Amino acid sequence: MVTAVCFAKRGYEVVGVDPDSRRIELIRNAKAPFFEPSLDVYLKETVENGRLKVTSDSVANAGSDFAYITVGTPSADDGSIDLTYIRNAAAAIGKSLRKREGYQVIVLKSTVIPGTARNVVKPILEEQSGKELGRGFGLCSNPEFLREGNAVYDSESPDRIVIGGQVDDIERLEMFYREFYGQSHHVIKTTYENAELTKYANNSFLAMKVSFINMIANLCQKTTGGDVEDVAKGIGLDKRIGSLFLMAGLGWGGSCFPKDLKAIAAYGKTINVKTTLIDAAISVNDEQPLKAVEMAEKLSGDLRGKRVAILGLAFKPNTDDIREAVSIPIIRKLLTTKAKVAVYDPAAMPNIRALFRDELQYAETAMDCINRADCCIIATEWDEFKKMLPSIFIQNMKRPVVVDGRRIYDPLTFIEAGVIFSAIGLGET
Ligand code: UDX
Repeated sequence: MVTAVCFAKRGYEVVGVDPDSRRIELIRNAKAPFFEPSLDVYLKETVENGRLKVTSDSVANAGSDFAYITVGTPSADDGSIDLTYIRNAAAAIGKSLRKREGYQVIVLKSTVIPGTARNVVKPILEEQSGKELGRGFGLCSNPEFLREGNAVYDSESPDRIVIGGQVDDIERLEMFYREFYGQSHHVIKTTYENAELTKYANNSFLAMKVSFINMIANLCQKTTGGDVEDVAKGIGLDKRIGSLFLMAGLGWGGSCFPKDLKAIAAYGKTINVKTTLIDAAISVNDEQPLKAVEMAEKLSGDLRGKRVAILGLAFKPNTDDIREAVSIPIIRKLLTTKAKVAVYDPAAMPNIRALFRDELQYAETAMDCINRADCCIIATEWDEFKKMLPSIFIQNMKRPVVVDGRRIYDPLTFIEAGVIFSAIGLGET
């Protein structure tokens, strides 16, 4: 969706194909099917000026110079990825290539394990089109590194572009990208497999960095005088480490990190290679969310019958996505303790409501959520929560207990104001 609107916004003719007719209808009416900053604006402009068209007709791409495969690759039960949508998309494109004259480059953007372009997509394209790779069509691996919540910005200004494939096809795609992004962008030209692996290595490294700082946070929290914020600042200024992705919290979630780490670990098993660091990053992350409940119990005692407010449900701010969000295991644990759980998120309420139905109290605002609460857990660092002063918690809660799971508040200010406060990675003073 984001790739499509960004190309269309620059004046390219884009046809989006999706089998989901409800989604097609939304997009035709210039409504984004999910929340993403700027997407609505881009969508409105490009649908209205006719640069972006959408359809469920799977051969609609037949006239294009490039055909992007951007379908999902969900986790299968064993952690490996399910390639059903990739296979279907490749088959549909292959069929449309049969009658097509001229050359089309198929660009595989979906996250797939090494070998997928060469061993899965290429044979399907060849079989369905009756053509050979390099004659009538080309194939490139071109992983996507955008972040949710920053998707439009990342699509227009990527740190680098990675293209895997055969030299001629890479050149064709590179020419298009040089036109789109300008001459100065870093372009890594490589094999299919290196391109595919780069995506997994990238996400695993970032997730490992977060799990690492969360492990240090757990050490700090049990150390008198410890504070992970200062330690993160201290190591982040070492250029070899870097300060990004060192924000300790309740763990990582979303549609990528959890799925991708599981997939690359599962791939390691199939080729008999140990993925020890990735396994450790997953293991730290599995335990991290429930630290919030432990901290709440430490400050509030038995939570049975108590009103616990959770501020933030999306897996991170600026998105309505709750896939693998840490709020979910926290809510589930709180429900087993028989707490009364009140929740609020600026964007993700409909998604959480669809999951938990009448098990929770759904608040209209953050204030409404903490009202008469015995304890409040910050699970996502939305800007609007950062602005909440200690007095708001003191005046509205039954007992002003705040568990800062995302380190958005200054501990001293909150403690001195009279809030009963604890935060991830903050030891006793
Ligand atoms: C990620 C990658 O960043 C992106 O390159 C890839 O294309 C898709 O996966 P995304 O899932 O949108 O993007 O979110 P990201 O901003 O990377 O955050 C992932 C998770 O890590 C979130 O749950 C976030 O809260 C958590 N996180 C991130 C931390 O807990 N601390 C940090 O310092 C950074």
